[in-house]
Amino acid sequence: MAQHRPFPLLSRILHWTMAAMVLAMLFIGIGMVSSVSQYHRLVAIHKPLGILVLILVAIRLLNRLLNPPPPLPSGMPGWQRVAAHGSHVVLYALMFAVPLVGWAMLSAARYPIVLYGPLQLPPIAPQSPVLFAVLRETHTVLALLLFVTFLAHLGAALMHALIFRDDVFPSMTSFRFACDNKPGRTESEPRGGAKASAAATVAARE
Ligand code: HEM
Ligand code: HEM
Repeated sequence: MAQHRPFPLLSRILHWTMAAMVLAMLFIGIGMVSSVSQYHRLVAIHKPLGILVLILVAIRLLNRLLNPPPPLPSGMPGWQRVAAHGSHVVLYALMFAVPLVGWAMLSAARYPIVLYGPLQLPPIAPQSPVLFAVLRETHTVLALLLFVTFLAHLGAALMHALIFRDDVFPSMTSFRFACDNKPGRTESEPRGGAKASAAATVAARE
């Protein structure tokens, strides 16, 4: 049976680094608008971290095109494939759109977008209070959509890990795969994980 291969190591590093950053950004954003005393401190983290998300997602997309992800398990129903691909497309689109809209909204208000010290970003939208208002609202709506899509993604990942028990979850989480992915070996462990694999090997020798 063809097995689900792991994601390339760089893809896994980018996935987990960005997962932490995106989740932090969502909570910093909410904390920012609901706190008066911490607003300036949080916004000073929110802007450069958001721009870093934008840079990393561009690198991640390039990496995905150069190192395609492993195929989904062959027995997976069509609707699940469509849902998996669709949600990944939405997550990528939002990881680009949310920081770009944040940058554009501050540009429309002609707020300085300070990255570090004197390092600032140039404006990417014309100065307009109306445009600022529209983009400010869009930033909130898209950020909430990102959170909802993430919840669906997390639910699907946990379903694969706890109910289907296939190789989808370990393909993104297990670093054991890196050792199994030596040159000359193209397939990962059989469904059931390392213990099942070791037991099968022992049984075959006996
Ligand atoms: C604790 C949270 C998370 C878990 C457990 C998790 C788990 C996974 C798993 C198991 C896969 C592989 C699915 C497959 O083969 O189809 C995956 C892929 C993916 N995840 Fe997550 N994920 C988490 C957080 C996030 C977050 C916060 C984002 C972005 C906002 C994200 C974006 C993606 C994308 C775009 C893919 C497709 C593969 C790629 O291009 O990197 N994940 N995730
Ligand atoms: C992954 C990237 C980002 C995420 C997830 C994110 C998320 C959020 C969230 C959840 C809020 C609170 C919205 C509300 O409750 O109304 C917010 C507010 C804000 N975001 Fe972002 N954001 C991101 C990137 C950026 C970037 C790149 C900038 C600017 C360069 C930016 C600038 C702002 C500002 C200035 C506010 C507060 C506006 C106010 O004071 O009312 N964001 N963001």
